[in-house]
This record gives sequence, structure tokens and C-alpha cells, in this order.
Amino acid sequence: MTLLDVRNLAVSIPTPEGDVHAVRSVDLQIARGEIHGVIGESGCGKTMTGMAMLGLVPQGARITADRFHFDGEDLRENAAHLRGRRIGLISQDPAAALNPVLSIARQMDDVLRAHRDMPRQARHAEAAALLAATGLPDPEKVLKSYPHQLSGGMQQRVVIAQALATGADFLIADEPTTALDVSVGAQVLALLRRLVSERGLTVLMITHDMDVIAEACDRATVLYAGRSVETGPVDDVLQRPGHPYTRALLAALPDAGPHGARLAAIEGSIPPPRSRIAGCAFAPRCPQAMPVCATTSPPERNRAIHRWLCHLPEDAA
Ligand SMILES: Nc1ncnc2c1ncn2[C@@H]1O[C@H](COP(=O)(O)OP(=O)(O)O)[C@@H](O)[C@H]1O
Ligand code: SF4
Ligand SMILES: [Mg+2]
Repeated sequence: MTLLDVRNLAVSIPTPEGDVHAVRSVDLQIARGEIHGVIGESGCGKTMTGMAMLGLVPQGARITADRFHFDGEDLRENAAHLRGRRIGLISQDPAAALNPVLSIARQMDDVLRAHRDMPRQARHAEAAALLAATGLPDPEKVLKSYPHQLSGGMQQRVVIAQALATGADFLIADEPTTALDVSVGAQVLALLRRLVSERGLTVLMITHDMDVIAEACDRATVLYAGRSVETGPVDDVLQRPGHPYTRALLAALPDAGPHGARLAAIEGSIPPPRSRIAGCAFAPRCPQAMPVCATTSPPERNRAIHRWLCHLPEDAA
């Protein structure tokens, strides 16, 4: 069943120099219980897409969409209400998500008090149980700690426990492993996978790292210049990419092996976010561009549920 249904989402931010088109046209259909990766170069609109779901766009930003629904509720009206109840955020910087001057016990309790009707003792037991569920070995000791006494990996587990404490069943994880060592990051991904299967969570995994897609995700959507240009099961997207941009991302991976590989540079850069785009936004960088690509929006191509936007015929992919 589709939990998140987003069609033609756009987010524009007015500035004195003109509108920034942070998100131009994003489609996302995410089923309950799925880890759905969103990948693309820096600046292509990944974070702003997640922020729109949380109702946290910059002041004055305009959100438009043909459909922007979470579990049947319109996010344009209800994002602030759903945030912290159904939808939680795991960000790149767990230290910034925690209050440096309050103990973990106090911070867990604040969340539980706000979201659960439980007496104090039961809240303490629940806080310890949630920390244990995130794989922290000595929850009582963690509860007595302050954030700076914990490693980055432990802090990220506390942030995940806090999200669980709210009762959230949909987590937006925005580059959750980028600030962590590779092996610690892999443990956090394994934790998220386990929580998805044990607790029926659904995760939107924002990343610029193809390894995160390969290791943790069931499906993936590729963003380019604020537009979703390819989506499908991870195996299809990685092994038979349809869009030349996805192929370029995969080709740009260093041969350093599967761990620690990041998106190396593709020649050229994404179009400026204030520009108007005619045709295919990738045309100036695309090795297979044709004259039509510069003038006409590309049509949808597909192999079953694997879909992408390109003027090239399916059999060219
Ligand atoms: N508050 C803001 N004001 C103006 N432009 C912004 C703001 N936030 C993001 N942007 C621009 O929107 C585009 C998309 O940003 P973002 O969603 O953060 O990309 P990503 O997460 O994929 O790196 C970028 O060009 C960025 O500079
Ligand atoms: S539409 Fe044209 S420019 Fe765009 S990705 Fe396809 S071939 Fe390349
Ligand atoms: Mg980002």
C-alpha cells in the first residue's frame, strides 16, 4: 500500500535575485515497509524535497504539487501536525539534533512525555527499551550521559530512538551516515533495515552515495536539477540504468571498491537553480544528447515498474 504519494512536487523560494527552483518536479510513490533511496548530486533538491514533507521549507517558499499525500492526508495542510507524530527526521548531524546541555534521559523523557500517556517510571523503562532497540549496549549508562560523551554513531542511535519515541512510522533519513566512519555508517544502515522489518517502519533515504542505495534500499529515485528522472527497484536501477545521468553517476564511482565510494565528479555541473530549463536538463552534459533534447521535455520510458525520462528509445538504455 502506498504510504507516500507525491506527484509533480515543486518548491520555489523567492529571493531578491529571482525565484530559486529548489525542486522542479518530483514524483515519489513509497510503499509501507520500504526503504526508498533518493540520490543525486549536491544541489539537486533532495533535502528540500524532504523538508517539504516535514513542513519545514524556508519562509515564503511556494509548494505546488498534483498530489502530495501521506497516508491519505494532504501534506500541504498537515505536514506540521504529522511531523513528530508520524514523520520523523534523521539528519546528517546528530549532535545538532540533540541538546548539548541536557542529559539523554531528560531528552528522551521530554519526547515521551509529549507523545505518550505514561507515568514517569514507565517512561524511564520505555526510554531504556528504545535505546536498547537501537543497539546501544548499556542503555542506563547512555541515559545518564550528555551528548558530547557519546560517539557520533551512538548519537545517531539516540536520535533514531527519539524518533521511535514519538511513534513516528515514517523516517526521513537525510544523509544519515555521511558524517560517520564507513563501518559505523554501515551499522546505522543495518539498524535502519532491522527497524523497518521489526517495526514496520518506512524510510526515505536521502543520499549522494550509491553504496547506501545498494546496501540499504529496496527502491531508488534519481533526482537531477530538482526533477525525478528515474525510479525503480534498486537492482534494476543499478544494473540496467535507463537514464544517461544514472549511468554517468555509476560510471563516476571510483574503483576503490564497494565501501566508501562517493559520487566522483561528472564533467560539467547542474543547471543554476534560478534558470528556466527547456527540454532535458541533462542535455549540456549528456554524451548521447540529440537536437530534440535541448528543446523538448523527454517522454517517459519504462521496463515494467522501472521508469525514466529520456528521448532515447528503451532499447538504447
Ligand atoms: N533557503 C534557501 N534559499 C535559497 N535557495 C536555497 C535554500 N535552500 C536550498 N536552496 C537551493 O535549492 C537547491 C536545492 O537544495 P537542496 O535541496 O539542499 O539540495 P541537495 O540536498 O540535493 O544537495 C540548491 O540550489 C540550493 O542552493
Ligand atoms: S533526453 Fe537527451 S539529453 Fe536527456 S538524458 Fe536522454 S539522451 Fe541525454
Ligand atoms: Mg542535502
